[in-house]
Formats: sequence, structure tokens, C-alpha cells
Amino acid sequence: MSAPPKDRDWAAYYTKTSGRPPRETLMFALDRFDAEPADAARFAVDLGAGAGRDVIEMLRRGWRVLAIDAEPDAIDALDARPDLPPAANLVGMVARFEDADWPECDLVNSSFALPLCDPTGFTAVWRRIESSLRPGGRFAGQLYGERDSWVGRDGMTFHTRADVEALLAGFDIEHFVEEEDDSTTPRGEAKHWHVFHVVARRHADDA
Ligand SMILES: C[S@@+](CC[C@H](N)C(=O)[O-])C[C@H]1O[C@@H](n2cnc3c(N)ncnc32)[C@H](O)[C@@H]1O
Repeated sequence: MSAPPKDRDWAAYYTKTSGRPPRETLMFALDRFDAEPADAARFAVDLGAGAGRDVIEMLRRGWRVLAIDAEPDAIDALDARPDLPPAANLVGMVARFEDADWPECDLVNSSFALPLCDPTGFTAVWRRIESSLRPGGRFAGQLYGERDSWVGRDGMTFHTRADVEALLAGFDIEHFVEEEDDSTTPRGEAKHWHVFHVVARRHADDA
């Protein structure tokens, strides 16, 4: 089996995935926002943005985006993308999400990144996600389940289905898919995936 992703050289991952389409969870959330009225450009924070496959889609749809990633290579790759829309409203931040602060936002998107948070820091990160979302704001992303083959790796957090449901107590769940699948990672490593794909809307009355 593979070493923990957080200890890997991410450059090859970024090269391999930067041209891939945006994640389905992000597209679901953006489509929900598109169906709601907005007075001004919406603002998203992408935690663990990588080389920006999701960021590009948000910018393309006129969002303002703060992209946070622990790897300087990710933010460099994002800034160097040839498909950045003209006048993109993008700020990149090199930081671990355990240490980062970000302003109030409409969307926290975190695709395949939050499980790379150490269990000791996860609760605080999740609280920051919740408190940064405006009422009616959304979380979109993935959490890993207890049958994922990376369970036990240092510095990673896994959840049971009940754990995920508890995390989402302050949200209306709009999209919830529990996936178990044997396939390969973008680096070509065999892996059993146990993934919760989530889009959830913060209760509108949680001001
Ligand atoms: C599997 S990649 C996913 C990238 C992108 N979101 C996507 O969907 O392709 C995980 C990303 O999270 C970043 N990352 C991992 N642990 C992190 C942490 N604790 N804080 C911030 N970023 C982190 C990695 O550098 C990497 O770019």
C-alpha cells in the first residue's frame, strides 16, 4: 500500500490532475447557488485546492476564490494555469488548514483534502468551516470512512457514517453519497476507497 499522501511529493499529482474536470460535489453546490438569487459575486474558500481543477470552475462562474493549500507547488501551479479567466478574482494562500484563518464565505469547498488533517486538529478545522459559512452557505467535499485502506495512516482523519451525520447536524444535507470502490489513485496505486461525498447547506437561521 501507499505511503500517506500528505508525506508525498505532490508535484506529480498536480501535473496529472490539473486538467481534469471539476469535482461532482462542487458542480452540485454551484448549480444550487446558481438557482438562488445573488446581489454580488459570491465568495468561496477552497481548502486543499491542489492545482485548481475546482478553483478554475468557480472563477469561470464569476466567483471570488481564496485557494488554500499547504504546498507552495499547488499555489504556484494554480497561478501559472493558462486557463485562468481574465481578471480572475483569485487569492492563493500557502497554509495548512489547521493553521489558516479565512473570512466569512458562501462556500467552503474541500475536495479529497480534509481527511489529510490530523485527528487532533480536525474538530477545530470543522468548527472553523461551520462558523465561516454564512447562513445558507454550503460545504462541498469528501470525508473518508472507516473502511478506507488508508485507515491508520499518521496525520489522517477517518469517520463513520454516524460521525459524518453528526458533523452535519447544523446543515441541511443536499447530496450524500457513500462510495466503496477498489480502484487506483491518480498516482497509480491500488486502493480501497471508502468515501463520503457531501454537499450540505448551513441552516439559514443559524446567524
Ligand atoms: C488529494 S489533493 C486534492 C487536490 C484538489 N482539491 C483536487 O480535488 O484535486 C489534496 C491537497 O490537499 C493539500 N493538503 C494536504 N494536507 C493539507 C493540510 N493539512 N492543509 C492544507 N492543505 C493540505 C495537498 O497539498 C493537496 O494539494
